[in-house]
Amino acid sequence: MILENKTGNNPTQPYTRGDLIPLLQEIQDRAGYLSAESIREVAELLQISENDVYGVASFYTQFHFNAPGRHTIKICLGTACHVRNGEKLLEALERELNIKPGETTSDGLFDLQRVACLGCCALAPVMQIDDQIYGRVTSSRLKKILEGYA
Ligand code: FES
Repeated sequence: MILENKTGNNPTQPYTRGDLIPLLQEIQDRAGYLSAESIREVAELLQISENDVYGVASFYTQFHFNAPGRHTIKICLGTACHVRNGEKLLEALERELNIKPGETTSDGLFDLQRVACLGCCALAPVMQIDDQIYGRVTSSRLKKILEGYA
């Protein structure tokens, strides 16, 4: 059982559809992603279809459906990074890792996420690996950065 008993103001009340997003957030906080099993469990708990749960969860970029990699790469595609070749950097990452945003490499080393702004626009294009920010990243520099995590 992924979910434990309901907590909060009134733990004796059954879950309602209004609990959907908090439940998904709780699962993701614990497991790092929403597995097919957890989606099924939430659907049963709320007595709604799995499609309804997927429909809501997939609307929000905060939810992930794959197990995270050992290292999370966030590629910025905000305005400053976009105009400084952020899309090309994303394409280079996709080629190098053979994954798309929202996916995890087959060896489980990296997962890839697109973000809107990492708050250091003067360094565009920017990417972040775990807590480390990398600015003015070029495709050629990218390979060396990734090798440092191998
Ligand atoms: S737009 Fe990329 S860091 Fe702000």
